Amino acid sequence: MTANTSLVTGASGFIASHVVQQLLKKGEQVHATVRSTKNKKKIKHLLDMQERWPGKLTLFEADLLAAGSFEAPMRDCSVVYHIASPFFIENRIHDGQKEVVEPALKGTQHVLDSVQKCETVKVVVLTSSVAAIFGDNADVLEMKNKTLSSEYFNTTSTVNYNAYPYSKVVAEKEAWRIYKEQTSPPRWKLVTINPGLVLGPSLSPTSESGSLSLLDQLLRGQLFLGVPDMWFAIVDVREVATAHIQAAECPDSHGRYILADSKTHGFVELARILRSITQSSRIPKNKIPNALVHICGPMLRLSQKWLRLNLSIPFDIDNRPSLDQLKIVYRPLEETLADHYRSWKSAHSVSH
Ligand SMILES: NC(=O)c1ccc[n+]([C@@H]2O[C@H](COP(=O)([O-])OP(=O)(O)OC[C@H]3O[C@@H](n4cnc5c(N)ncnc54)[C@H](OP(=O)(O)O)[C@@H]3O)[C@@H](O)[C@H]2O)c1
Repeated sequence: MTANTSLVTGASGFIASHVVQQLLKKGEQVHATVRSTKNKKKIKHLLDMQERWPGKLTLFEADLLAAGSFEAPMRDCSVVYHIASPFFIENRIHDGQKEVVEPALKGTQHVLDSVQKCETVKVVVLTSSVAAIFGDNADVLEMKNKTLSSEYFNTTSTVNYNAYPYSKVVAEKEAWRIYKEQTSPPRWKLVTINPGLVLGPSLSPTSESGSLSLLDQLLRGQLFLGVPDMWFAIVDVREVATAHIQAAECPDSHGRYILADSKTHGFVELARILRSITQSSRIPKNKIPNALVHICGPMLRLSQKWLRLNLSIPFDIDNRPSLDQLKIVYRPLEETLADHYRSWKSAHSVSH
């Protein structure tokens, strides 16, 4: 039993619910943590999975801020997928320390403290982010061949500037520090998955993930005047889930894996694809000129510095380790967006 039991933290979330589903499809035994099992709306997809795979999925309550709360869920597990961590878009964060940094850092410490005590754990897969590698798009221009690579850590973010990227880099660094503290040979391996902006169908009915809320604004027609010239490393949620499982299963997996297409995609490209899928004229097909975005910056709660270091900066991405070692096959963006829209539309029609 132990060999196939996995713990997934934050199972109510966008990415984690796909990891849980893929593990169950493979016949694995899954322990999954959520903040509250009483909130039936938030965990409906997990309750449905329990019905579909009887006896395979056990739910536990755990909070990132509560020391020891992961000990019971981790019992008998050989793999820990630590995915829970708050992800909000920068201009929606008011108190970076409290809203993102503390839960990310304390959560990683608490989960890994439990791993240190739980002798059955052999592999920890931590969901980090490309945000742990760079803070602003301009940072990538300083990297070798102006290409995003897992050799780097984000050095430009702080709790007051790019708080979410900062939360990811401090949490990931702390994980590596705790991993290295093990006596040699280490009992457990640490692998990190560093996805770009994750899109695709959501199983989770109430996720407030930043990537879902970004597209939600576009799909609701709130950006009908145009989109800023922003560029994103993008990946489908199903590839991200598969990468987590491959990282745990592949005996040679090690280090950090960037999960994203090999080139960034422009916000306007996303808008144009979604406009053609939805046939909605409220989804724009044009960019807003940078000068205008700078003028509107304060209203959008985006600083001039942030705009200067992020607008109109596409870059290349070295995703080869994910292809060669984790055997990830990236699906076309059009398919990701079509499936994203389908799931957004069905959630939207249920909630209205
Ligand atoms: N989506 C992306 O584009 C993206 C890209 C790169 C990396 N990531 C990373 O992927 C992970 C999952 O993100 P997601 O996109 O799936 O977002 P999500 O749907 O918002 O999931 C976040 C999860 O973290 C849990 N969580 C937050 N604070 C918690 C706390 N104090 N105690 C326990 N659980 C807590 C949430 O639980 P509740 O449901 O109870 O709030 C939720 O299950 C995060 O580590 C994020 O940084 C995401």
